[in-house]
This record gives sequence, structure tokens and C-alpha cells, in this order.
Amino acid sequence: MTNWKFRTRAIHIGNERDAQTGAVVPPIHVASTYVQPGAGEWGEFDYSRSGNPTRKNLEQTLTSLEGGVGGLAFSSGMAAIHCVTMLLQSGDHIVAGSDIYGGAYRLFHKIATRAGVAVSLAPSHDVAQLEAAIQPNTKFLWLETPGNPLMSITDLAACAELAKRRGILLGVDNTFATPVLTRPLELGVDIVMHSATKYLAGHSDSLGGALIVRDQEILDRLYFIQNATGAVMSAWDAFLTSRGLKTLELRVREQCRTADRLAKFLAADDRVSRVLYPGLASHGGHAIAKRQMRGGFGAMLSFEVKGDYAKAKRVAESTRLFQLAVSLGAVESLIEQPASMSHASYDAQDRAAHGIVDGLIRLSVGLEAAEDLEQDLDQALSA
Ligand SMILES: Cc1ncc(COP(=O)(O)O)c(C=O)c1O
Repeated sequence: MTNWKFRTRAIHIGNERDAQTGAVVPPIHVASTYVQPGAGEWGEFDYSRSGNPTRKNLEQTLTSLEGGVGGLAFSSGMAAIHCVTMLLQSGDHIVAGSDIYGGAYRLFHKIATRAGVAVSLAPSHDVAQLEAAIQPNTKFLWLETPGNPLMSITDLAACAELAKRRGILLGVDNTFATPVLTRPLELGVDIVMHSATKYLAGHSDSLGGALIVRDQEILDRLYFIQNATGAVMSAWDAFLTSRGLKTLELRVREQCRTADRLAKFLAADDRVSRVLYPGLASHGGHAIAKRQMRGGFGAMLSFEVKGDYAKAKRVAESTRLFQLAVSLGAVESLIEQPASMSHASYDAQDRAAHGIVDGLIRLSVGLEAAEDLEQDLDQALSA
């Protein structure tokens, strides 16, 4: 069973047929509470915040796909990151990559700091700069690769070596890469996080988050926090995410192929001044991405158009298939302007300092026909 390939595990682990009825899809368990064998006696499940069979199925699948000892499913990606920050105490320090989701930036700077936790940003594609940001009280490194929205690539094995050497916990948001392309735990990372809202569920119809770890003691601590604070994934969202996972590999591979084609189309176009996609040989992180990402460079890319900010805004508002919306990773292609949308919660000076310019446009490439998406970008660039 452990030899099963990724896509086989995505379909079968955590999705055992129902013993009572033979149903090939396990039922969705909606009960909030469970009868106990006796007062003070506990079965496997007692209350759905503490554990739910549908959520457990999903956690098993995710644990298998990421190669961990266990996982936890949350009500959103932010709830999952928040749970991790609650491992820290007043006086601790976080070093976070400068190219991270705006909501993670906001959580670290506006919520964790209130609990006495300090935060520094450092460009994580440069391990030396990351190390230089470490202070004696640094307890936690937080990274995204590919980064958001600049698609910077971080060498996870090098960061894991750094974290281990300095006795720091290393967490990676693997939402963009998905375990199809990158398995951070296998590279020495301690905690993998997902916005399950994105590729894992994959259809823009569900909200969730996940943490998967390779150490039982960390899992126990995270579980304690999750149960004590309560941000668990609903049974319905767990079902939708489990269903989405069954096609994760097929979707991601196809989306990567289309993204690669669109990145090359944009890079060759005179109306475009810069394309950020790790699959392009011109990308600074291409060599690391080639080694670290398995058979694809992701389906997210950013670009800048020639001309002023008004021109970039017009392009982002002129696509017909790419829909102007935040979020990513679903079958529908999306377009957005990070500075005013996904990264609006960055302080303007941090955006400027880390190269998140106003004219940047970010694409989430979906499953529509590549030719149609290319034509759509072509007509929008002429708008
Ligand atoms: C890379 C990344 N991480 C985390 C999150 C937060 O996840 P959620 O929206 O499910 O809370 C997002 C959301 O856009 C994201 O893009």
C-alpha cells in the first residue's frame, strides 16, 4: 500500500468504502456529538470540534500525499497559519519570506505582534539574507515557494539545513506548488501548510486549510491548539476537499502545461515588459525550481505590461475568460492586481521595498483550453 503512486493514494487513502453499505464514497458525517460508552469514557470520536470522521479521512489523505506523520484540517488557510503562530510566545521572533500571501503578512504584523511576537521579512530566495535576519530569539521561519506574487523560488533543503543548524522551526506554505510538485517535509521542513481553498479542493466552492507535519510532538501541540481554539474544517468542506484531491495530480499537471505556454507567449510579446514564471530560463530561481519541483513549475505567473499603471489596470479588467478575482488554484482562470487585491494588506512601503509594484498582474491558470486563454490575454493586451 505504501508503494502506491501519488494519484492512487489521492483516490484511495482516507477514502475506504463504507463498511456498512459498501458505498465507494464514504458518507459525510454531519453529527456534532457522539454517544459515549459510559460517563467519562471516550470513544474515537466524542465531539466534532475534537474529531470528525469526514475530516479525519481528509487528514489521512493529506498526510499520505505530503509524507507526514499526521495532519490537521482547518476552517481556512489563515486559521491553519494562525494555529502555527500560537506555538510562539511573547518575546519570540519570526523571520518570514518577503514574498508571501498578504493575509499571512497581516497575521504576522497585525495579530502576532499584539501577542508580543516580533516579525522580520527577508527575501527567502537568498538563504544568506534569510540567515542574516535571524536573531537570538528567532523561533520560526515561514516561507512560500513559489513566492506570492513574485514567484521567487526558495531552496527548501538549504533552508531546512539552516533552520536545523540554528534550532528554528521551519514552516512552508505549499499552496502554490501543491504536493504534486514539491514535498517540503521530504526536504527537511517541519510544517507544511495549505490553503485547501486553492488547488487541493480546486473548484472555487470550498474554504479550508491544512497543516501536515513530520514530528508527532509538534502534531500533538498543534492539535491541542486547534481543539482549544476551534477553527476546524466543516464536514462538508472536508468532503469537497477529499473529492478535489482525487483529481489533484491531473489538474495540476495540465494547469502547469498551460501556464508554461502562456508564460512563453507573454515573454515573447512586445506589449509585456516582464514575466515572472519559474519555468522560464530567464527566471532567477529556474535552476532550483528545476531540481525542487517535480515535472512542472506551477500554474501561477505574474507579469508587467509596458505603459503606465492605467494600462495595467485596463488589461486586468479586459480579460473575458480570466476573471478578475482574488484566490487561485481552481479550474477557472483568474486575474488580479496584487497591490490592490491579494496584497492590499501589505504596508505600502513593504510592497515597494520588496518589488510588489502597482503595475504587476497575477494570473492563476485554470483548466480552460490553452488556446482560448492565450487569445484572451492577446485581446486584453490590446485593450
Ligand atoms: C498562498 C496562500 N496562502 C494562504 C492563503 C490563505 O488561505 P485562506 O484564504 O484559505 O484562508 C492564501 C489565500 O489566498 C494564499 O494564496
